[in-house]
Amino acid sequence: MKRPPPAPVTLPHREVSLDAPLDEFARQLHACVDLIIERYRTMYDADAHPGIDEQTVRGWFDEVLPQSGIDIHDLLREAGATVVAHPVMNIGTKMFAYVMSGGNQVSVMADLITSALNQNAAKWHLAPAMTEIEQRVIAWTAEFLRLPEHLGGAIVASGSAANLTGLTVARNLFAERLGVRTSGLFGLQPLIVYGSDQTHASVEKSIEVLGIGSDNYRKIPARPDFTLDPDTLRRHIERDRNAGLMPFCIVANAGTVNTGAIDPLAELATVASENGLWLHVDGAYGGLASALATHRGRYRGLERADSVALDYHKWLYQPYEVGCTLVRDRDALKRTYHKSAEYLDYGVHAERFDVSRHHFDLSRNTKAFKVWMSFKAYGAQRIAAMLAKDIELADYLARCCDDAPDFETVTTGPLAITCFRYIGGGTLDDSKLDAWNAHLPAALETDGRVFITGTRLLGRPVLRACIINHRFRRSDIDYLLAVIRDVAERDGEPD
Ligand SMILES: Cc1ncc(COP(=O)(O)O)c(C=O)c1O
Repeated sequence: MKRPPPAPVTLPHREVSLDAPLDEFARQLHACVDLIIERYRTMYDADAHPGIDEQTVRGWFDEVLPQSGIDIHDLLREAGATVVAHPVMNIGTKMFAYVMSGGNQVSVMADLITSALNQNAAKWHLAPAMTEIEQRVIAWTAEFLRLPEHLGGAIVASGSAANLTGLTVARNLFAERLGVRTSGLFGLQPLIVYGSDQTHASVEKSIEVLGIGSDNYRKIPARPDFTLDPDTLRRHIERDRNAGLMPFCIVANAGTVNTGAIDPLAELATVASENGLWLHVDGAYGGLASALATHRGRYRGLERADSVALDYHKWLYQPYEVGCTLVRDRDALKRTYHKSAEYLDYGVHAERFDVSRHHFDLSRNTKAFKVWMSFKAYGAQRIAAMLAKDIELADYLARCCDDAPDFETVTTGPLAITCFRYIGGGTLDDSKLDAWNAHLPAALETDGRVFITGTRLLGRPVLRACIINHRFRRSDIDYLLAVIRDVAERDGEPD
């Protein structure tokens, strides 16, 4: 049967694409660069938090879907007045909250090129240079951390994705002979995962997503130094095995999110190999600091991990998003993810390295490019020197708290997190001080000058400063304490 001819398309403009002429596009790009440079000019002085209420921000964007476009220069002015003028200043030096790094200039250019070229790093013939760069970045990461050269890796979006990838590989390889990829976990004894109670929530999320179930996750109370005790771990494994369960994976921390504690990796690797378990190391916050000669001893055993989660958008100063899962066995990713499909394998040179055979994602951008540009531009030594500076500044903060009458250090080191408390005149009882320290992060957010979050250690609220920005100076640490003191004294203790 003959199909009817298509209805004619009526375009409102004569143009047949969305593009502006190239010289106009160049003008737009220059206007965009001007916006960025203006923002960067204020980087060292701007408040950390924009301090605007939800209503106002929602109001900026409260409009119906535009049916026709506006002039790009007007659009840039609009975005400049809203988004660019009122960011949370992660790039600046007043941001101590969560695990926020400042990004770096070279990666700004890399991300622009990434979008401009719009490569799909699924398959070699779709992105030849970017595919090779990605493999190079994984090899350089291994070299940076002095890990075995021939390990495999997947570039992912985040530390959470890196943990999910590591645990997916763990599950699929551990239960490979039980047919987990075809039959799932149905009918199997529960797989049991072990970690300390300091382990990041993304591990528990991954356990849930993978169908293992959080009831099968043993969150073992950490030792007073916030690390996992190998002997306690051994007892848990034995108990589970005696109960007919299937111990399967140990998750160790190479830098906990709360305090930066590093588990005894070598001893945990021994427990894993004694028991035939998978060792996954969450190094999303702290793994990259194993590049430092001063810290190498603390990471002994990292090389024995079966998988390691890393996050370049934390301590490699990358803009969001880019993380990585390293695996000791190069084949492990393929055994976890490879799927054939006629439309994918068609015309493929089998010897080429197609990331899609080693990765959950198919279409994916080229996040490794900015990491490659950064290593090339700054060199591993200069980057490592910045990590060392961050650690020194965290130590400086602890010393300032020790010396000040109105602060006390709770934990510091071995990485760049210092937990401390405001203690005012030192006359308040513990419950009042707890209330004050629990209240301060919200009061400081309202004030806006600095951004710091808190956590609870051994049940008590503390302020927690994470210092992973190559732009930080000692004066920023002094400023942090001065602002906290100012807000605490101004507002007084909470009712
Ligand atoms: C130890 C640790 N693991 C995992 C994550 C999750 O990383 P992301 O926020 O990139 O998903 C974090 C984030 O702070 C972390 O500190």
